[in-house]
Amino acid sequence: MIIAIDGPAASGKGTLSRRLADHFGLRHLDTGLTYRAVAAALLANGLPLGDEGVAIEIAHNLDLAQMDKSVLSAHEIGEAASRIAVLGGLRDELVKLQRRFAQTPPGAVLDGRDIGTVVCPDATVKLFVTASPEARAKRRTDEMVSKGQDAQYAAVLEDLKRRDERDSKRTVAPMRQADDAVLLDTTEMDIETAFQAAVDIISRARGA
Ligand code: C5P
Repeated sequence: MIIAIDGPAASGKGTLSRRLADHFGLRHLDTGLTYRAVAAALLANGLPLGDEGVAIEIAHNLDLAQMDKSVLSAHEIGEAASRIAVLGGLRDELVKLQRRFAQTPPGAVLDGRDIGTVVCPDATVKLFVTASPEARAKRRTDEMVSKGQDAQYAAVLEDLKRRDERDSKRTVAPMRQADDAVLLDTTEMDIETAFQAAVDIISRARGA
């Protein structure tokens, strides 16, 4: 069983994916971390983000078990990840890795931007999780403040909008809802409600 979850930054898809993986006894891969890990390695070595050859080599040697979310969640790494995510050859390399993960028993929940459209087009169930930019910016700001970070709502909102624009307008594997994905708009939902809604959608799809 493969569950594909796509959606924009701060839509709640990460938390939702982890909980769904636990609930259904599946493995979980946050594919954003794979782009972040490559970006982080380029930044750490002072290499240009446009050097696709080096980026592909880093991706080829990437060890999913070594990706540290707490380190990779840094804002500048997210920005750099979204810049290198336009490189087609790099995406091909990361998609290979992501597919291998998805196809390993007992199955997996993958979350990202192109899981339902490119990585796992034959997934058992596909969800596109979204929320208004304002709701997402509020969640992201609250999350950062709770971690003691300095965060301004207006700046976070602008940032999310810029990231959405870049991710949905790029020519290679743009973020979009797959034709057979179910839309889950969490603007008015807390995480518990969103989780229950997702479990219902998945259970129905499995039953069918
Ligand atoms: O989801 P997260 O914010 O960690 O992703 C960082 C960036 O990686 C995104 O802005 C997007 O550009 C890219 N990404 C992607 N395809 C995925 C996952 C992430 O292009 N499947």
